[in-house]
Amino acid sequence: MKNILPSPLQYKNNHLTFDGKRLDTIAKKLKTPFYLYSKKTLRHYYGNFQKTALSNEIPSPLICYALKANSNDKILSLLKSMGSGADVVSGGELKKALKAGIDPQKIVFSGVAKTSEEISFALSCGKKGIYSFNVESIEELELINKIAKKLKRQARVAFRLNPKVSAKTHKHISTGNKTHKFGLLKEDILEAIDVKEFWSNTTLVGLSIHIGSQLTELNATIKAIAELSKLALSIDVPLEFLDVGGGLGIDYTAEEKIKLASIDTYMKTVSQALEKYYYSKTEHCPRVVFEPGRILVGKMGVLVSRVVRTKVSDNCHFTIVDAGMNDLIRPALYEAYHEVLPETKSNKNLTTDIVGPICETADCFGVKRKLPKLTSGDLVVIDNAGAYGHTMASRYNERDIAHEIVL
Ligand code: LLP
Repeated sequence: MKNILPSPLQYKNNHLTFDGKRLDTIAKKLKTPFYLYSKKTLRHYYGNFQKTALSNEIPSPLICYALKANSNDKILSLLKSMGSGADVVSGGELKKALKAGIDPQKIVFSGVAKTSEEISFALSCGKKGIYSFNVESIEELELINKIAKKLKRQARVAFRLNPKVSAKTHKHISTGNKTHKFGLLKEDILEAIDVKEFWSNTTLVGLSIHIGSQLTELNATIKAIAELSKLALSIDVPLEFLDVGGGLGIDYTAEEKIKLASIDTYMKTVSQALEKYYYSKTEHCPRVVFEPGRILVGKMGVLVSRVVRTKVSDNCHFTIVDAGMNDLIRPALYEAYHEVLPETKSNKNLTTDIVGPICETADCFGVKRKLPKLTSGDLVVIDNAGAYGHTMASRYNERDIAHEIVL
């Protein structure tokens, strides 16, 4: 299947439209910069993810959407209505997931620094607490057991395996190597399973991995699933689930458009790897948990901004916009590429840097981009900003947090 990644943005009669509506009309009464999200696009990606999981014969797939990508209330409610669970990494995210009505028994809790308060809260929600604590250290396991005992609860836990693989992505978002703080090594997991005192109020129900984000090719994913499977086969515990994490990327650049693994390819790869390394070797049939973030919400959102003014310095041309790195930090933090599109299409006869108002040279959305000449008040759109945009925003330079509009 061709990897068609639909976007809500389209030029019609030389003007940008978002879900068929003229962008200048949408922006008329709104203060820029603002995030704009398309529910229709989200429905497409969630539906596709779920459908391909089923068509690739993944056993009882549970999609636990990673809230860190976008935790807008309306987006979470829509995901909940489509049956999504949640992957959370803080008490704040857990509260948001519960507020959206997501069943605690569809929530997994990842992260290396879960506090006593967060663990107590997660154990106390619903009748049985959350679906799983994805445990990242032995100390954490001991603490969960201790708190569960005090609360007279049984905690459901999974070990997050560090599979010692290097995912091909930006070094800041690669998480599956032993030099990274995430997960536990296989030998430490095996040792912990044998320590009786850890298990009075905890039950081992699964194993998980998450090796990185914005993955465009899947070799490391296959290796990690092989490691996960080996571990699962070597322990004498009937597991309820195998959690393969998130990580599937989207196309930010033209090059990624060509090489990116599609959702279908991803599901096929996961399904075949699990079959080869696990299901074909055992009678057990644990379900598969996914923790997708970016692939579900990345393409549904844009950041809408207006040009403040332009500036020429010798042979450098700057288009200064009212969105800054505090609104969307990805270009500054990961040198990430985001397409910048003018609201009105015309000849791209200018080479310009698109920069924001923040007092840092890193506050730059694009270097030497081809754009038409823009002037004060013109609208521009920073594309593919639905994931890790608003959730990573800050008030740096005492700026307001951008509003989010959901269409
Ligand atoms: N599960 C766990 C345990 C994670 O740590 C993450 C992301 C996900 C799932 C979801 O990964 P996704 O499907 O979205 O790739 N701020 C960075 C991305 C950081 C990802 C952190 N963990 C960026 O803007 O590229």
